[in-house]
Amino acid sequence: MAGTHLGKNNMPTIDTATGQAAPAEVSQERARAIFTEIASQYEKFNHYSSFGQDRFWLRKLVKTLPLGPTSCVLDVAGGTGEVTFEICKHHKPAIIVLSDYTPAMLDVAKQRIATGDNRGVCVETCVVDAQDIPFEDASFDAVTMAYGIRNIPDRMRALREIHRVLKPGGTLAVLEFSTPPLAPARAFYKAYLKWGIPAWGQHFTGKRDDFVYLADSIKAFPKQHEFARMLEEAGFQDVNFTNLAFGAACIHTARTGQC
Ligand SMILES: C[S@@+](CC[C@H](N)C(=O)[O-])C[C@H]1O[C@@H](n2cnc3c(N)ncnc32)[C@H](O)[C@@H]1O
Repeated sequence: MAGTHLGKNNMPTIDTATGQAAPAEVSQERARAIFTEIASQYEKFNHYSSFGQDRFWLRKLVKTLPLGPTSCVLDVAGGTGEVTFEICKHHKPAIIVLSDYTPAMLDVAKQRIATGDNRGVCVETCVVDAQDIPFEDASFDAVTMAYGIRNIPDRMRALREIHRVLKPGGTLAVLEFSTPPLAPARAFYKAYLKWGIPAWGQHFTGKRDDFVYLADSIKAFPKQHEFARMLEEAGFQDVNFTNLAFGAACIHTARTGQC
């Protein structure tokens, strides 16, 4: 789609499948439709399509969080609660607010809370658009976001919102698919995105097209250094990243200043 599209606050918005300028609604409506369709099979898909690496990556992500018994955590685009429940295994914060744009994903999370996956930690779920977070400034000690930012059409707005709701000195930890820096790994990964991801998606959900989108959105997502620059532009400090699986995925960490 030609031209620049502006969202709220006149920020440019993109089609998350291509990275090209597009009205925000294109990506928003598609994301909600896809994640509603695949919610019940989402975790199984993640596990098998990452060859079991998803658990290791989640553990590594939550271990970057400096949480104590009074900490308040916001899980943005938290879906079925994979990050939230991993936090509950390794930390005992005061509260985790598990937020997502798609109610069907949160319904799966609610079932997991009912079966005790929160291990006694207070977990509250709420429908939230990451570009418009309905919490006051400086409300949280840490924010997590796994595989979420890629699906958001106005990423700078979401990052600024996250920065706003973090307390001074608060931590952001983002897990996202990325681009392997080495050519052989990159070639293998590209082929896997093209053939492997849609095939796993078809197998688990029968919705091959939804997984073609997921693969396209991964290809269109900024590389590690580019996303690190976006975090700095949003006001974050101490921006770092660690590649996983040769750079197929990446953990980004950052902090807000101390005022
Ligand atoms: C790939 S899933 C990741 C879920 C979870 N974080 C995990 O690690 O499994 C992406 C999630 O982003 C959510 N999402 C998409 N657009 C969003 C937005 N604008 N605000 C908040 N969440 C959004 C989707 O509903 C979906 O649950």
